[in-house]
Amino acid sequence: MPCDLFGGYTVMVSKTFYIETFGCQMNAHDSEKVIGTLEQQGYARVEDEGEAGLILYNTCSIRDKAEQKVFHRLNEYKRLQGEGKKFAVLGCVAQQEGERIFEKAPYVSLVAGSASYRNLPEMLRRLEAGEQRITGLDDRQTDLTFETEFTARSNPHRGYITIIEGCDKFCAYCVVPYTRGKERSRTSASVLVEARKMVDLGYTEIQFLGQNVNSWRDPSDSSGRMSFAELLVAVGELPGIRRVRFTTSHPRDFTRDIVQAIDATPTLCDHVHLPVQSGSNGVLKAMAREYTREWYLERMSWIKAAKRDISITSDMIVGFPGETDADFEETITLVGEVKYDAVFAFKFSPRPNTPAVTMADSISDEVKTERLRILMDRQREIQREHYGRHLGQVQECMVESYNVSRNQVVGRSSQNKTVNFTTRQNGAQIARAQPPVGSYVPVRITQTLPNCLVGEAMADSAEASAFVPMPRVPQFVVLN
Ligand code: 5AD
Ligand code: SF4
Repeated sequence: MPCDLFGGYTVMVSKTFYIETFGCQMNAHDSEKVIGTLEQQGYARVEDEGEAGLILYNTCSIRDKAEQKVFHRLNEYKRLQGEGKKFAVLGCVAQQEGERIFEKAPYVSLVAGSASYRNLPEMLRRLEAGEQRITGLDDRQTDLTFETEFTARSNPHRGYITIIEGCDKFCAYCVVPYTRGKERSRTSASVLVEARKMVDLGYTEIQFLGQNVNSWRDPSDSSGRMSFAELLVAVGELPGIRRVRFTTSHPRDFTRDIVQAIDATPTLCDHVHLPVQSGSNGVLKAMAREYTREWYLERMSWIKAAKRDISITSDMIVGFPGETDADFEETITLVGEVKYDAVFAFKFSPRPNTPAVTMADSISDEVKTERLRILMDRQREIQREHYGRHLGQVQECMVESYNVSRNQVVGRSSQNKTVNFTTRQNGAQIARAQPPVGSYVPVRITQTLPNCLVGEAMADSAEASAFVPMPRVPQFVVLN
């Protein structure tokens, strides 16, 4: 075990680590890769920061609130510094704040953005050698993706695959192009190798991840080059795969063959998350989204014309600089026109380095809060009504967990909706035997609520007759 000089005392640094993750699915999956890399370097993960030699914090800076949490947490770290622990700040705040983090929190030894993670083994060696100020701040320089065989996936049934990193869109409000670097696609061959390994390990659901997954362009040479839709189908056709998802898509890159692929391939989930951000052409222009409301609605009409009922969800921002009442009203009418199954709505938050930070933030927080409330109320009404279409349907659900107090199984439909269902066998409620986590159960929908569906497992299904007591789920599966 290496020794280190810390605050004037010589202390032992054990090779144990504790990691906390904030933010989106990209960050959650980055942490899975970081954990795998650390374990491969001989570190052992602990669940209590008090037992860890190295404490890592994987951060998010998409909105100001998320960033504030990081500094709040860093302050709490202070009490542990006397114990000779080492601290690392990773992710978007690391990239954005860079070396300023050392000034704000001098006990931090490593600051690295996601575009530098492929250098982690080397950075860890420098950390072990006692270096105090290590930075991995590749910014927009790198053309490389972070591919590792040692991803420690936390769910043994459903796993993420990053197919594209970074973003080149530069929407006026967004920090991502500055924190995650330029757009880099992985080759179709490397994505397929990873998908096949996951299938061999028993994964049945794969979710493609990227800031803009449908902006993915196969960097393979021309002979084996695939389109995004072809890559979806190729993974969807792997024997053993039951579900393929992808998130997030950008309307600019949303092509009709994606809808055709979903229609033709039952394993591709019938769900598209296509963030619109605003229903007003003026605001869309100011946001530099590079599409109009009409252009977006045309994509919606492709999805709605599909043979399958494809669920549509979106992200929206209210209170972007200059958004008038009339602009906001356009967002409300768009929500009514599309009839989304879910909307993730946010108050505009000015972010460092972005063009929007220099625009006069003319909307008061009260107005933003009020617009957010109106939007969410309207969306709730839509969901209350629109989810009614599922009443009486049979939906296949992947079991995720159990609500013991309600004697319900919590599952997820292909459309990504939560389905709370009960199981009956020979007419009797089963108390302890339930379908295992990760299994697929056909469920008849008996009630619809604005945010979830309620149902009953089909009693005569093969899955229902194979119910077993709740299994212990292994915490991590390392793919190597
Ligand atoms: N303020 C508010 N919301 C934002 N988002 C991204 N940047 C900002 C910002 N500066 C939202 C967008 C994006 C989602 C992930 O977060 O809606 O789609
Ligand atoms: Fe941000 Fe726009 Fe890129 Fe999405 S597409 S990550 S909103 S810059």
